Formats: sequence, C-alpha cells, structure tokens
Amino acid sequence: MPGTEATLVLKAYPVWDRTTRAFHWINVLCVAGLIGLGLGLLNAKALGVSAEGKILLKMLHAYFGYVFVLNLASRLLWGFLGNRYARWNSILPLGRAYWRALRDYLAGLRSGRAPHYLGHNPLGRLMVTLLFVLLALQAASGLVLAGTDLYLPPFGHEFAEWVTGAGEEHSRLADLKPGVKEGVDAAAYAEMRSFREPFIAIHLAFFYALLAAIVVHVFAVVLAEVKERSGLVSAMFAGDKVFSEAPVDAVDPQPDTEEPVATLKSSPCENRSDPAGH
Ligand code: HEM
Repeated sequence: MPGTEATLVLKAYPVWDRTTRAFHWINVLCVAGLIGLGLGLLNAKALGVSAEGKILLKMLHAYFGYVFVLNLASRLLWGFLGNRYARWNSILPLGRAYWRALRDYLAGLRSGRAPHYLGHNPLGRLMVTLLFVLLALQAASGLVLAGTDLYLPPFGHEFAEWVTGAGEEHSRLADLKPGVKEGVDAAAYAEMRSFREPFIAIHLAFFYALLAAIVVHVFAVVLAEVKERSGLVSAMFAGDKVFSEAPVDAVDPQPDTEEPVATLKSSPCENRSDPAGH
C-alpha cells in the first residue's frame, strides 16, 4: 500500500578480525573435545574402560588440551594487539565508563530500546570475561594434571623426579610410565598425590562452572540475535555485523561515505525483515 512503507537502510561494519574468529572456532572445537573426553574420564568405570584405556583417554585429553592452551594463549596476547573490539579495554568490565554503559544498557533493555554495540555489549563483556577466567583456570589446572598423571610437559619432569626420588639422576626416569608403580617411591608418590588434590578439585569444579557458562553464553547469543538481528552469529564467521542505526561503539558512528549493503522496504504492520539474511 503506497505511503505505508518504511525504508530500512542497512550498513555492514567490520567487527571481528580473522585472528579473533579463528580463535573462537578453534576454541569451540577444543572445548567440545575436552568436555567429551573429560566426561569419558569421569564415567570411565561405568563405561567399562580398562586402566590402559583410561591412560589413553587422559593422553588424548591432554593433547587436545595443548591445542586449547596454545589457542587461548594466542587470544590472551591478541587482546593487546588485535583490533579495537578484540582488545582488553573493550572486553574487561573495568572503569567508570563501563559501569555507566552497563546502567544505560540495562535501562535500554527495560524500555525495549537497548543501545546497539558493534563489539560486546556491556552484559556480553561480563560473560566473556567470566568465560576467559574459567578457561584460563581450566588450562592452568589441566597443565598441572598433565604433569602429575602423565609426566607430560611443562611440569611432568619435576613430578617424575619427585615420585621416583631420582633428583638429577635422569637415567632413572626413562622407565617411568603413567599409571605404573614400578620405579616409584611409594611415600613420595603419596605426597605428590596429595599435592595434586586441589588441582583435580579445581579442574572438576571449573568443568561444571564452564558447562553452565557455555549454556548461558549460547542462550544469550541466540536471544541477542533474535532481538537485535545484527548478524551476531554470522559475524563470527564473516567478520561483519549489520545495523540500520549506527552502533554506539562504531569508530565513525555516522559513516556517510559507506554504501548501504541493503535497502529493505517493510510495511509498518509487518515484522522487521531479517538483515542478516537468515
Ligand atoms: C575446557 C578445558 C577443559 C575441560 C572442560 C576439561 C575437563 C576435564 C574433566 C571433566 C576431567 C575429568 C576429571 C576427573 O577425572 O575427576 C579432566 C581430567 C583431566 N584433564 Fe582436563 N579439561 C580441560 C582442559 C585440560 C587441559 C588444558 C589439560 C592439559 C593440557 C587437561 C588435562 C587433564 C588431565 C591430565 C586429566 C586427568 C585427571 C584425572 O582424571 O585423573 N585438561 N578434564
């Protein structure tokens, strides 16, 4: 009907750089693998896994763990080198400006007009910070366990010296195998196992915390995508988000030289068309 159509001009803004996107999907794959193998370890008895099978599961879990740790370390570094949306000052919930932005965002959510962000919105910053803390603690406790259970780097050599009492006599370490008590000093081994206890407790507690955080993260992303329609999910593949109004954290909030990526016409009584093309 002429005169009742509204025109929606959409603009694409680059947000997530290649390194950030690569980190995200490698991390998803590693964490999924680590959760699967971790569940296997937790339920090894119920699944009828033999003692050797359990060592193999632990080995596989640790190798996945190394990829996860290297990927996470590269992202922690990228927080100092990446584009403005990937940097720590756009992520960590610190400073007065952050708390002001959070207040405005919450007020916007209540009134149904939350400000749009290119990078993480203030609630997203809290979530992402929590995820990084949990992942980093899981990585650190996992690296210790790789040493105590499998004598793998970076601490395995020290644990091997401890349980054998070999000190600098490294030839005595050659026959040491994970899960085998031969060549192991019983008292030193018991001491090492009690040293290990808090690390396995942390690893298990943060495993459950991470599971809960992942559920909240995925739910929040889907909710934001449905409400905002900015291509939040596809931006983690292609890099760009799409908005009809300039986001508050855009470098140039009014990019008048950019060509619109699409011009949609919608009648006021229709739902808004999906600019992300889903
Ligand atoms: C998101 C990351 C991770 C998750 C969700 C995870 C999860 C788990 C779970 C559920 C267990 C079983 C705990 C138990 O048996 O009581 C486990 C054990 C273990 N994890 Fe991880 N893990 C992660 C990262 C790592 C990393 C980075 C490493 C080392 C490179 C690692 C090394 C180990 C080892 C050696 C064990 C065996 C401990 C044992 O069962 O006696 N993990 N992990």
